[in-house]
Amino acid sequence: MSGPAGDALAADAAAGAITPQPAPESLLAPVAELIAVTEAARARVAVVTGAAGGIGAAICRRLSADGFTVACLDLREDAAASVASDLPTARGYGVDVRDAAAVQAVAGRVRDDLGVPWLLVNAAGVFSIQRITDLDEAEWDRILDTNLKGPFLTCREFLPGMVAAGQGAIVNIASTAGVRGGRLRAAYCASKGGLVLLTRSLAVDHGPDGIRVNCLCPGLIDTEMADWIRHDEPALARFAATVPARRMGTPEEIADGVAFLASAGGSYLHGAVLMVDGGGTA
Ligand SMILES: NC(=O)c1ccc[n+]([C@@H]2O[C@H](COP(=O)([O-])OP(=O)(O)OC[C@H]3O[C@@H](n4cnc5c(N)ncnc54)[C@H](O)[C@@H]3O)[C@@H](O)[C@H]2O)c1
Repeated sequence: MSGPAGDALAADAAAGAITPQPAPESLLAPVAELIAVTEAARARVAVVTGAAGGIGAAICRRLSADGFTVACLDLREDAAASVASDLPTARGYGVDVRDAAAVQAVAGRVRDDLGVPWLLVNAAGVFSIQRITDLDEAEWDRILDTNLKGPFLTCREFLPGMVAAGQGAIVNIASTAGVRGGRLRAAYCASKGGLVLLTRSLAVDHGPDGIRVNCLCPGLIDTEMADWIRHDEPALARFAATVPARRMGTPEEIADGVAFLASAGGSYLHGAVLMVDGGGTA
């Protein structure tokens, strides 16, 4: 305490009117631990791709609330900047994750602006519903390049800094479509299945470097990507009947899972495939 009240207390204490009591250890320890955890997270930088999307933006908000400085990356630069502008310590960047040179350039800018990232979250993604016989090569490439090559390129750029620091974490946003087949979405399933095994392979390679690599598989989540069903009440009701949670999930519920995977609570998770799907694949 400072000011007149603090001066009066100090004078009383000096005069022996007050015997200062040391705060009990048991009360101070949890507070000190909380401050240490918050300060450690505040010093950390998180990179989130797909930051302008429903799930990516929720992840940015959650990581910022947890004290991270957040680099918000998206193909839609203005939208990424807008997400960042609502957060206390964040910055938006435009990048196409399919483009190796662009990913390399933005990684350099993030390091220059904010420092070496401690956490990378790959949430950029695209979806399409098509029979494989109707799928042209360009559409196959768009899906595979965004959902699988993108995380390869970002991991390739950001991993060396984490390895040099001897610590860090990567969370890849895959999908329930990464662990089972789905109707009319072979390219999407192939891309997400590849992402699950990219995750597990990187966990094997880089766990010994102090880096935990995990993925999270959302079920149906209420974002633009679910526009094909989320405004169709009868279809949504049919979907809900197949899921133990009886509803679609929210972007915030995915962000909770990411925060957990990145936290000290997930310290023994390496190569985990966390299903956040309301029990849809249970
Ligand atoms: N919404 C769901 O039901 C659902 C279910 C399972 C998995 N997922 C996965 O979650 C992730 C986030 O999806 P969402 O629901 O927020 O979708 P969304 O469409 O709201 O957001 C996706 C974001 O990725 C960005 N993006 C697309 N291509 C990009 C590129 N080449 N480079 C950089 N950014 C690019 C888009 O601009 C967009 O902001 C995706 O990987 C998606 O596959 C979503």
